[in-house]
This record gives sequence, C-alpha cells and structure tokens, in this order.
Amino acid sequence: MSEYLLQMKGIDKSFSGVHALDHVDFAVRPGRVMCLAGENGCGKSTLVKIISGVYTRDEGEVYFEDKLIEHITPAEATRLGIQVIYQDLSIFPNLTVMENLAINSEITANRKLVNKKRWEETAKEALSKIGYDIDLYAKMGTLSVADKQLVAICRALLFNAKLIIMDEPTTALTKKEVDALFRTVRQLKESGIAIMFIGHKIEEIFEISDDVCVMRNGKNVFLGETRGLERKDLIYYMTGREINDDFFVPKNISEKPVLEVDKLSLKNHFDDISFKLHKGEILGITGLLGSGRTELALSLFGLEHPHSGKIIMNGREVKIKSPQQAQSLKIGYVPEDRLTEGLCLAQPIADNIELSSLKRLSKGGLIKKETIYRDAQIWVDKFKIKTDDARKNANTLSGGNQQKIVLSKWLATDLEVLVLNGPTVGVDIGAKQDIHALVHELANEGLAVIIISDDLAEVVVNCSRVLVMKAGRIVGEMEGKDITEENIREIIM
Ligand SMILES: Nc1ncnc2c1ncn2[C@@H]1O[C@H](COP(=O)(O)OP(=O)(O)OP(=O)(O)O)[C@@H](O)[C@H]1O
Ligand SMILES: [Mg+2]
Repeated sequence: MSEYLLQMKGIDKSFSGVHALDHVDFAVRPGRVMCLAGENGCGKSTLVKIISGVYTRDEGEVYFEDKLIEHITPAEATRLGIQVIYQDLSIFPNLTVMENLAINSEITANRKLVNKKRWEETAKEALSKIGYDIDLYAKMGTLSVADKQLVAICRALLFNAKLIIMDEPTTALTKKEVDALFRTVRQLKESGIAIMFIGHKIEEIFEISDDVCVMRNGKNVFLGETRGLERKDLIYYMTGREINDDFFVPKNISEKPVLEVDKLSLKNHFDDISFKLHKGEILGITGLLGSGRTELALSLFGLEHPHSGKIIMNGREVKIKSPQQAQSLKIGYVPEDRLTEGLCLAQPIADNIELSSLKRLSKGGLIKKETIYRDAQIWVDKFKIKTDDARKNANTLSGGNQQKIVLSKWLATDLEVLVLNGPTVGVDIGAKQDIHALVHELANEGLAVIIISDDLAEVVVNCSRVLVMKAGRIVGEMEGKDITEENIREIIM
C-alpha cells in the first residue's frame, strides 16, 4: 500500500477551445488536509469534477487506495467514499434539516416507505459525529450558510466518506464561522478522513492545510507540504507576480456631500445613523455580523425600509422604496451573495454585464448587439475575465469569473453612488488587486463609493474614511492614517 488515498497522474481535460487541465498530477493522503489553490479559472473545480465523476477525463490515470479506477461515475465516487460539498451545497431549501440528512440514505437504501423515526435517528447520529447541535425540524432554507455547510458535512459522513472535498467553503462565511468550520475540519482529519480544501485565501491556506497543490492556467506549479512554504512564494506560485496592494489615495473629494443619511433607524437592525458621503471618497462601513451594516446598505438601495430618518441626495430629500428608485437616483448596489443574486447563468456573458446599462446603450429604444459586445469586451479586458468569447453563456465561466461579471455589471452603469458589499468575496488575490485598483480609479473620477466589509485588511487598503458599527450604532469613525486594523479591532467587538 502506498501512503496515498487518491493519486492522479497526467490528468488532461479540454472543453471546446479551452485546455482546462494540462497533464495535472495530484495526490491526497488520509488524515491530512490538502489545499488546492490557484487563480480564478485555473482548473480547480474541473479537477474536482473529474474526481467526483461529473466530468470524464480525456487522459491520465486515477488511483484510489492503489486501485486504478478506469471510469469514475458519480455513483462509483460515492461508493469509494468520495464526497464533494459544492459551493451551492446541493441542499433542498424547502425540506427540513432532518429530511436533508436522511433523504440520500433513504434513496441509497432504496426504501420506499417513509419512517419518521428512522429518519430522526439517522439525522441525530450524523450530527453527533461532529458534535453539532441544531433544530432538526428547521427548514434548510432558513439556516445561515455556515449551518447549511455543517449539515452538508454531516450528510457526507453518513456516506462513510474517506475523502471530503470542499469547494471554496469559506467564501460566504464570517471569521467566526470560519473558525468553527476549521475546528470541524481538524476533527474529521483526526478521525483519518482526508480533506481536500479549495481556496485562495493565503491566511486560511497556512492555517488549515498540511499540503498544498497550486495550479496556474491548468498546470501544476507546486505540489508539496505547507510547512516550509513561504508566504511570498505561495503568492508568486498562485499569481505569477508579486502582489503589493496599493493604498487608496483620494485625489478630489467634493466639498458638498452627494449623499446624506440623517438619523436613520430601522427597528431591530440599526438606530440613529447619520453620515455624509462625498464624491471621490471611499467610505468603509465595517462591523461584525449583526452590527446592522448590511441592513444599512440595503436601505440605501430600497431593499430595507427604515421607519425614521432621512436620506438626502444632492441636497434633496429622497424616498428610496425600491431598487428601481435607487437606480434612477444613480445609486448602485453590489450584493454580498453574488453566487445566487444578479446573474443569468444561461445568458451570454456580455448580456449579463450590460443588463443594467441597457438604457445608456440604447438609442431611441433600439440596442445593437454589436454595441453590447463591444462595450462588454471592455470590461472583460479590464477585469481579465477568463473567456475567449463574451458571447458564450455565463455558466461556461469558473465561479470567480462569474463573480467578476456581477461586479462589472454595476461598474458599467452610470452611477453617482456605488455601494459594494464584500466586493472581493470569492475572487483570487490577483483579481482582488485589480478590482481594488479599478474602484480607486472610479472614485478618483468622481464616483462616491461605500464599501461594506468585515475583511479589515480590505477596509484599510481601500477606504479614505471608516465608520465602525456595533449593535446597530456607529461607535467609531477614522480617517486617513488612523485607519489601521488594530484601531478598528479595538472598538469593533
Ligand atoms: N462546462 C464548461 N464549458 C466550457 N468551459 C468550461 C466549463 N467548465 C469550466 N470551463 C473552463 O475551464 C477553465 C477552468 O475552470 P474551473 O471552473 O475549473 O476554474 P476554477 O479554478 O474552479 O476557478 P474559480 O476559482 O473561479 O472557481 C475556465 O477557463 C473555464 O471557463
Ligand atoms: Mg471553481
């Protein structure tokens, strides 16, 4: 027996015109955490889909417990003990936790009769395995992403998983939730399960992984132990360049505010919030989950309705009751949950980017297709969206590249105020820097930007002013050089 649970040699895979995997080698050992890292579109999800039998490899060999697996189907992968937790978590939102946990074992056991008692036992057993307590009768759709994920992990354990693959599990989690997830991962690892973790956050890779595989453009660039690997080397392997995030230097902040929020309150979420936003500045609003930061942002876009206070645009009081109204006031909002909001996957990339700027592009009500593609191409180039043709559907893109489309959709619109909620969630560090640079450029051209984020490093690099929220109130404000992670952390808790 070799020391490996899974070994892959010379894996090759092409989609029409795209060489997604170019003779990739990969191996995972039991009881260890392997991180698969690399920029958006480098081939991570494709490799996972080959392991789990969703895609068939064009070339190469796959060994599981030293046995050559000629053809992997999803059923074969499950039988071997391979379980994938995809980003969408493949849960049934309308069913309860219990039903979600039991449903697959019911199906595999080919039982036709529903036995509530047995379902409950199955579900309880699964939850106890990771020492996790939750209401079995809660509807899945009402749970937080973190809880959904733990339920998905439990479900994997019910299949006697030997290898659990998690595709960017931390993307939508807060720091606290990431810590909880990592505790569970360590527990699984101690029980001898191999974990494959896809991600591109440097800190997380160093915190959780034993081994790292870095890919770039479908090729292996590093495969080895995490210990001994230097931070700057890892970044270089991932991006092929040195990354120095440049701080935002505001060039011309307008004297008059473009947006004023005056004593705004929303029951149970925030209270007595007042601030001013000027053209040319990037205002950060940070706070822990539940501090009211997201509800405040949603109020500016007509998705929450404050019960008292005023919103003033260019000196005039406005009522923002709907996103349409916000848009007509030239306020844009990029949601946090971009994976599910604001993207038509079965439509061309270009149409997605141009969706909210159709008015600008139309002359007398008519829009020429070429105009859409020409305009969209500018954003494809600016954001380095990995595609050879913007006419292709959005679902041919990798996850991170889909996120870039949602962002470009808003940046392509003619706006005065742009609210970004977690602007770089899910994008790799190279793209992150590109997005930051672009937002700096837009601010310096006169856009007023609000960044809502609990990624303190992101707030520090990008904001000229920061408001810290806690329990629905503004508890601190910082400007310029005073904006440091330590200063924010001191008052955020
Ligand atoms: N079904 C498909 N049809 C055509 N091209 C595809 C398909 N799936 C993936 N690709 C292409 O293969 C390449 C690798 O994509 P993949 O999804 O594996 O990237 P990734 O490393 O998971 O990226 P991300 O970090 O953005 O999720 C990309 O260029 C992508 O556009
Ligand atoms: Mg992916």
